[in-house]
Amino acid sequence: MTIDKKIIVVFGATGKQGGGVAQTLLHDPVALAKFQVHAVTRDPSKPAALALAEQGAELVKADLEDKDSLRLALKNAYGVFVLTNFMESFDAAAETRQGKNIADIVKELDVKHLVWSSLPHVSKLSNNKFTNVVHFDGKAYVDEYIRSLSIPYTIVHVAIYTSVVWESLAPLPTTPPSYGLFFPQPGSLQTTIPLIDPSLDLGKFVKGILLNPEASLGKQYNVGERFYTVEEIVGVAKKFGVEIVFQAVDKDTYKAGLASKGMPDFFQEDLAQMIQFLAEYGFYGGGGIDDAKKLLTDPLTTLEESFKANADFAALKKAQ
Ligand SMILES: NC(=O)c1ccc[n+]([C@@H]2O[C@H](COP(=O)([O-])OP(=O)(O)OC[C@H]3O[C@@H](n4cnc5c(N)ncnc54)[C@H](OP(=O)(O)O)[C@@H]3O)[C@@H](O)[C@H]2O)c1
Repeated sequence: MTIDKKIIVVFGATGKQGGGVAQTLLHDPVALAKFQVHAVTRDPSKPAALALAEQGAELVKADLEDKDSLRLALKNAYGVFVLTNFMESFDAAAETRQGKNIADIVKELDVKHLVWSSLPHVSKLSNNKFTNVVHFDGKAYVDEYIRSLSIPYTIVHVAIYTSVVWESLAPLPTTPPSYGLFFPQPGSLQTTIPLIDPSLDLGKFVKGILLNPEASLGKQYNVGERFYTVEEIVGVAKKFGVEIVFQAVDKDTYKAGLASKGMPDFFQEDLAQMIQFLAEYGFYGGGGIDDAKKLLTDPLTTLEESFKANADFAALKKAQ
């Protein structure tokens, strides 16, 4: 019987973050006993949505740009997990607008727990030294808005995905083959990066947040498995036979590499400043990730395990 279960509406359920959250809430026995998942998508006919329905989620069609659809999606909901996808719109203002839309409806419908997936406010943390990391700041403005509304919230600042490691590699013309990993200076082998496999681990954190509102409401957590130095990342890849050659380059060279992949100029600058920020201030502006781990009841996925579990990383090895 699902009648007494609290409805948790999961945005992004067809993707990595929301998909990870939905999977945990649908399959973890403790979560399953308490929560019913309503999985949001703009297209309920897509395979990822149908797979969620097969696993017991109720599909809900809604769009973060459409407040009426959000009203319907959040009707009778106890809680909601939400993210915005910069990589679809490449528009930070759209992310801010969409995040504010959901916060408004949470307030209007008196939803009891909003879990908002966000990123650090780089401009603020760097005292305006790095003001172009718009895919962070656009989300962080929503953090401020949520706080201003006095609604029940938990904000998670999600670490860099383990998949970014292999997505960032550039094949080098060497025999045997190897891959280049380039950071703009002052990035170095000693730069530390918090990592998370969102599909496997974000749900564990969100489960802990939803099951422990007395601890998590009104809090912002930095969420990740652990900080790795670039040197450690290179070392873990090497264990799998994937040779990575790291090089710190000047910013223009770094941006030219991104331009060759077709990235727009403003996003080249965004990514360059993001790495410069994390090298100089730390991804969380000096903050750590231990607080959120107190909410966990499940072990997290190490970088080694994440590499092992991922076909795209395994393909790098085959390509050599
Ligand atoms: N890469 C990293 O290391 C990293 C780290 C931290 C945070 N992030 C952030 O994570 C975000 C991307 O999340 P992801 O990796 O989970 O993306 P993803 O796997 O590409 O999935 C995006 C999800 O967002 C949903 N969505 C997009 N626009 C929507 C809208 N207007 N209304 C309702 N749902 C919408 C999509 O649903 P449908 O298409 O089914 O409607 C889809 O489920 C980005 O903003 C990025 O900045 C990335």
